[in-house]
Amino acid sequence: MPPRALLLHGVRDPAGRPDEADTLVQVEELDRTLREMGFRTATLALDLDLRPLAALAADPPDLVFYLVEALDGRAGLQHLPAALLEVLGVPFTGAPAAALQLTTDKLATKRLLRRAGLPTPDWVERAEDADPDRLWIVKAVDEDASLGLDAGAVVPGNRVAERLALCRRRFGGRWFAEAFVEGREFNLPLLEGPDGVELLPIGEIDFSDYPKDRPAIVDYDAKWAPGSPTWETTPRIFQPRRGDARLRAELGALAFECWRLFGLRGYARVDFRVDGQGRPWILEVNANPCLSADAGYMAAAAEAGLEPEEVVRRILSAAGVAPPRRPARGRGRARGPARGRAARARAPRRTSSRSP
Ligand SMILES: Nc1ncnc2c1ncn2[C@@H]1O[C@H](COP(=O)(O)OP(=O)(O)O)[C@@H](O)[C@H]1O
Ligand SMILES: [Mg+2]
Repeated sequence: MPPRALLLHGVRDPAGRPDEADTLVQVEELDRTLREMGFRTATLALDLDLRPLAALAADPPDLVFYLVEALDGRAGLQHLPAALLEVLGVPFTGAPAAALQLTTDKLATKRLLRRAGLPTPDWVERAEDADPDRLWIVKAVDEDASLGLDAGAVVPGNRVAERLALCRRRFGGRWFAEAFVEGREFNLPLLEGPDGVELLPIGEIDFSDYPKDRPAIVDYDAKWAPGSPTWETTPRIFQPRRGDARLRAELGALAFECWRLFGLRGYARVDFRVDGQGRPWILEVNANPCLSADAGYMAAAAEAGLEPEEVVRRILSAAGVAPPRRPARGRGRARGPARGRAARARAPRRTSSRSP
């Protein structure tokens, strides 16, 4: 019998926010990939009631492919099903529950980074602590997807109180202000391979055409509103600039430090800004980055010559699950080309520097 994979997600309303609907695109794409690899697949959508997941204990799948980005629309709860799976002993892909919980709480992440001596921008939780002579960006503690980030998100210290109040009123939940780092932005995708974690090609957000009348950030529209001014002016590029070698090495080393510090597994992405003096600052650790074909993670993998199926294979083996030896009946094409692609993918190691 082919092994069973359960695709787990937390979207209840397919017509909901675009960042939620995007999860369903991932579910569909990964379902197809897993079936092509020879798994029998099923999908489970969870809300705050975790009992349907607990019920799996009676007849657990061989693998849970973990695509829970939020429960009941709350990203800060995405670790809960993982915690249950750990208790049940069911293998699942991606980061352990503890790593998901820490990294979805931006304040917990920043505290840990600071304690470890890793660079993360200054932050304040109370408006009265914000230096009026600096620029601050007001962000959600435990939401991702740039929720609440728009042209008004970056403010001087004396307007932090007003912005915090607006965001709390409009979106609810916890908000804080982080020192705004003017400068370049980089995404460092990490993927486990046979010899440990590797860095995939570094992506940079090219802000050169960004509207000049506002601070450059990847705001909500840049991620979710095709055709909007910030969507159009935040392309991701992979070409290094001349003279970047040292910076790139430094970013890579910091990303690997984050991998170890948070106990990440399988795949992840660490995002940075680099200030005018060339100093890198860690913005966030994404333990659960989007795996859909059009998102940055798979784009970086493609840049390294890795097909989505090879990425999935590596994520599975990091979860301790061997892909089926034989494809499911009627899907005989899957294995042949995959082997060829995998062999080619390993060749350009020069583009994916390995962890020390
Ligand atoms: N301290 C900062 N300085 C400059 N830009 C920032 C800062 N924090 C966030 N941003 C901008 O906002 C975007 C989203 O912020 P991020 O912390 O990554 O939250 P999310 O989890 O919503 O992606 C970043 O990609 C970046 O463009
Ligand atoms: Mg981000």
